Amino acid sequence: MNFFKTRGFIYVVAILIAVGAFYAGDSMRNESAQINPVDLKQLQAGSISKTVGTPLVGGAFELTDHNGKEVTEKDYLGNHLLIYFGYTYCPDVCPTSLQVMIDALEAMGPDAEKVIPMFITIDPERDTPEVLKEYVSQFDSRLIGLTGSKEAIKSVAKAYRVYRAKVEDEGAEGKDMDYLMDHTSITYLMGPDSKFKKHFAHGYEPTKMAERIKSLL
Ligand code: NI
Repeated sequence: MNFFKTRGFIYVVAILIAVGAFYAGDSMRNESAQINPVDLKQLQAGSISKTVGTPLVGGAFELTDHNGKEVTEKDYLGNHLLIYFGYTYCPDVCPTSLQVMIDALEAMGPDAEKVIPMFITIDPERDTPEVLKEYVSQFDSRLIGLTGSKEAIKSVAKAYRVYRAKVEDEGAEGKDMDYLMDHTSITYLMGPDSKFKKHFAHGYEPTKMAERIKSLL
C-alpha cells in the first residue's frame, strides 16, 4: 500500500513537471514570435536568406490598398516589390525611409518600371485607406499604401518579421488616438515571385540602393 502510494506520487509529480515544461516552452515560443530579437539580428546580418532554403521573410497577405481595393500578394506577381512597413503619423523615420525608396527608384532610370514601391501600415487603427491615399501622394504617384484589419496587419507584420509596439506619448494624456509606434525600419526587396531577395537597413544611400536593386533585377 505504502509502495503504491509512493509510486503514484512519483507519477503525479512527473506528469506535473512534464505539463509545466510544455507550457513554459510554449509561452517562451510565443514571446519570441512577437519580439523576434534573434530573427531581427539575423535578418540585419543578412544570414536568414542564406542559411535556409525556404523563404522565412514574406508570404501571402490580404490587405486593402489606398484606393479601397482588396488586394493580395498575387495582384503584384511579376513585379519586384520594394516594401516598407511604417505608419503615417511617424514623425521622421518613415518619411525618411520612404523618400530614400523613391529617390532610389528615380536613380534607377527605366529599370524602376520593374519595381513597385509599397508602404504597409503597422497602425491600421489610424491609417485608413483615405489617410494612406493622402500620405502616399506626398511621395510619389507610384507608391502604393496598404492597410487592413488588425488581424491582417498583425499577420503580414509577422510574416516580414516586423517588430512594432505602441508607445504612449507622454504629452497626450487621455487622447486614445495620440500615440507613437516603435517599429523595425527595414526596406525589403521582393522578387517577381513575391519571394524575399534582399533587405536594406535604415539609412541606406539612395544611389547605392538603386545599384543593388538593379543588380538583382
Ligand atoms: Ni516610422
